Amino acid sequence: MKTISLKGRAYAYEERGEGTPLLLLHGFPFSSESFWPQLEAPPKGFRLIAPDHRGFGQSGLGEGPATMEAMAEDALALLDALKEPSAVIGGVSMGGYVALALARLDPGRVRGLLLIDTQSFADDEAGKARREAVAQDVLQNGVAGLTAGMLPKLLAKTAPAAISARVEAMMLRQDPKAVAAAARGMALRSDAKDILARFANPTLVIVGAEDVITPPEKAQVMAQLVTGARLEVVPGAGHLVNLEQPAAFGGLVEAFATRF
Ligand code: MLT
Repeated sequence: MKTISLKGRAYAYEERGEGTPLLLLHGFPFSSESFWPQLEAPPKGFRLIAPDHRGFGQSGLGEGPATMEAMAEDALALLDALKEPSAVIGGVSMGGYVALALARLDPGRVRGLLLIDTQSFADDEAGKARREAVAQDVLQNGVAGLTAGMLPKLLAKTAPAAISARVEAMMLRQDPKAVAAAARGMALRSDAKDILARFANPTLVIVGAEDVITPPEKAQVMAQLVTGARLEVVPGAGHLVNLEQPAAFGGLVEAFATRF
């Protein structure tokens, strides 16, 4: 794992493969480790760059709520440090929210979008209240309760126990302060429909057929907003399609690489 310093704060990332830069942004409450099959066998045609969002994995935490914009600014600073003027921006779930925030902040740097098990909608009032409850719970009691509550919803029923165990261990390792900051940051995100409606570069939307957190209907909304976007619904996968069906996922990503 490598790190850069962002105003004295460590920002860690993994880097593999060669080709068009693909910035791959992880979901909540994970780290870049949640791309383990892709880090082991990077999709052909892409230079994979997978950072840890602020406070997660080996990255240092910033001040206040970790908004999607703040995480997007970190990711843009990494592209600067790597001397990549633009990249395909991909993200799983919360990573997708960050990808869309990045496209709002600096659309000229987005060569394409890879939206994985994510959505364009903002939280409603009830959703925002749930985020705040999560933040308070993890700060008081640690991440075990959140992990136990989320884990059964993350994966398809047929997912191997080994995947579930590794995801659980990864979640349990995350810093409660980072988890609370990201939960509060997600509550502050805006609807991203406008970003997608004006986005004109290649876009691939991938969703697990059994994703109950950001289900295929939400993926379809995103794909319909971008002219020429492709939607792929992968059977036998829930909310973490890149872990649950890495071969199918890798094939779709490699086919997408040929568009750049
Ligand atoms: C994620 O996987 O990043 C989260 O489930 C996203 C969310 O809670 O909206």
